[in-house]
Amino acid sequence: MFKLFKKKPAALRIGDTAPNFEAETTSGKIKFHEWIGDSYAMLFSHPKDFTPVCSTELSRTAALKPEFDKRNTKVMGLSVDSVGDHAMWENDIGDVAKHFNGAALNFPLIADNDKKVAELYGMIHPGELDNLTIRSVFIIGPDKKIKLIMTYPASTGRNFLEILRALDSIQLTAQHKVATPVDWKHGDDCIIVPGLSDDEAKDLFPNGWNALKSYLRLVPDPSKK
Ligand code: BEZ
Repeated sequence: MFKLFKKKPAALRIGDTAPNFEAETTSGKIKFHEWIGDSYAMLFSHPKDFTPVCSTELSRTAALKPEFDKRNTKVMGLSVDSVGDHAMWENDIGDVAKHFNGAALNFPLIADNDKKVAELYGMIHPGELDNLTIRSVFIIGPDKKIKLIMTYPASTGRNFLEILRALDSIQLTAQHKVATPVDWKHGDDCIIVPGLSDDEAKDLFPNGWNALKSYLRLVPDPSKK
């Protein structure tokens, strides 16, 4: 007798097309891909409204919203709470803002009460939290492909400056044949991608490079004027 095992959905990976969906949000119903349009997007989940770490994270993200705007990146939160709960919690987010370098909520939240989006994106990890979304981050490009995935435990608040830093790298390396080294920040030297031969690199980087190793060739940030 064969036992029938329920097949787990495959986990999303970088390079996959971000699953499309329709959802109710605090700014009305959205079709996700249409909402992204020609922008980048950050879709991120928190475990539950009216919880402490989540309140600090959303307030900090609201303060950084102008930085996401500068990077042509839309921000969308998600939890398995209702629009009504999101609306009530919004006041608390504003109240705690000053303690965490934060601001009042200024971006939409998906009300994923039926866990449809959470399951589509693998945001529920039963070994960590029962029936709630863990702290997931998906950066999605204008081509609707997933560029970055981060997963944090419920007990650990994220650092959204790190997400902005990664976004800078993702956007730069989509335009230029460079990669960014450890701890790189916008304006720091970059690395010529290993796939580019020295001959090819000469065309793209006519001012040359600093070769720490034959495979580690540093050039100024090509986006710097
Ligand atoms: C919090 O946001 O503080 C939290 C939420 C769920 C589990 C643990 C912590």
